Amino acid sequence: MAPVPSSPIKVGHIDDVQELRKAKPTTIPERFVRDMNERPTLAIALPSLSDIPIINFSRLVNGSKDDYQTESLQLARACKEWGFFQVINHGINLSLIESIEEVAKNFFMLPLEEKQKYPMAPGTVQGYGQAFVFSEDQKLDWCNMFALGIEPPYIRNPKLWPIKPTKFGETVDVYSREVRKLCQNLLKYIAVTLGLKADIFEEMFGVAVQAIRMNYYPPCSRPDLVLGLSPHSDGSALTVLQQGNGSSVGLQILKDNKWVPVQPIPNALVINIGDTLEVLTNGKYKSVEHRAVTHKEKDRLSIVTFYAPSYEIELGPMPELVDEKNPCNYRRYTHGEYNKHYVTNKLQGKKTLEFAKIKSNTSTV
Ligand code: OGA
Ligand code: NI
Repeated sequence: MAPVPSSPIKVGHIDDVQELRKAKPTTIPERFVRDMNERPTLAIALPSLSDIPIINFSRLVNGSKDDYQTESLQLARACKEWGFFQVINHGINLSLIESIEEVAKNFFMLPLEEKQKYPMAPGTVQGYGQAFVFSEDQKLDWCNMFALGIEPPYIRNPKLWPIKPTKFGETVDVYSREVRKLCQNLLKYIAVTLGLKADIFEEMFGVAVQAIRMNYYPPCSRPDLVLGLSPHSDGSALTVLQQGNGSSVGLQILKDNKWVPVQPIPNALVINIGDTLEVLTNGKYKSVEHRAVTHKEKDRLSIVTFYAPSYEIELGPMPELVDEKNPCNYRRYTHGEYNKHYVTNKLQGKKTLEFAKIKSNTSTV
């Protein structure tokens, strides 16, 4: 994951959000209070259950020809119009879904000193802390994070793998193997919806990079002033997000300029298209901006897997998706270059994708 930057980064004091919550300050510290235009009360769409598409994965794998075709069309529509969908019947054992949630929750419930044995150094993205903070005046997210590189093995930092709770590492490993298979399978079905051969991404990606991030959002007395996680798009090809059972609604995606909440479905996984797939598909499938908001009384946990090509792989729009009507919108670069750019910039909507865009000299300034 993140290379350690050569120049020291001054981030100032970062409050641990769970400790802050325990201390119950009468006002929210200034560093967490968002500017007016970023506050989550603005432009929230009414929750609508039927909005974000639901994909029944078992119909893709085991369904009749008709089932497969209906589901595949739904998948294509989800990728094209939403960039987000929820997968049900994804084939990952319920007991594994429950155990990863349990170890993640138990980790966050440990005393601060225990968690701080695995610190996320400023400018890096593995360990416990707040990622993507680069200056003393940057607004902070109402969130504690714990992240680990998983695959290939050389991105692992064994010093950051917690000893407590017991079974943490083992559970993360087993879970990550299952999620990896799911990503590989989803990418096959996605390839077919693009008229490409099923194995195209698997062949292109090499030994795919995989990382896991657990986000814990404590309740916040003023959810109208803070954000759980700043608006961003993911740098991955695909992201798989598991929401804690009974978690409050927290994830929102930007659709037609409105923030649409993602209603948790028990045991479903939320999948989204990352920047890498947007570039590879020449923008046909979009990496959609999203954020997390907090709740006055309820906490929320999410377990997020990022799946991306190996760092040395050169990326750019696939020739099959470039023609006269769809001119090439993105340049070529390696995934390592993109990753470096991504992890050395704060989360700011879809800004990181500017790195990949071909700038036309006729564009308006
Ligand atoms: C992420 C993310 C949203 C959430 O970790 O990239 O978008 O609901 N998380 O935790
Ligand atoms: Ni995200």
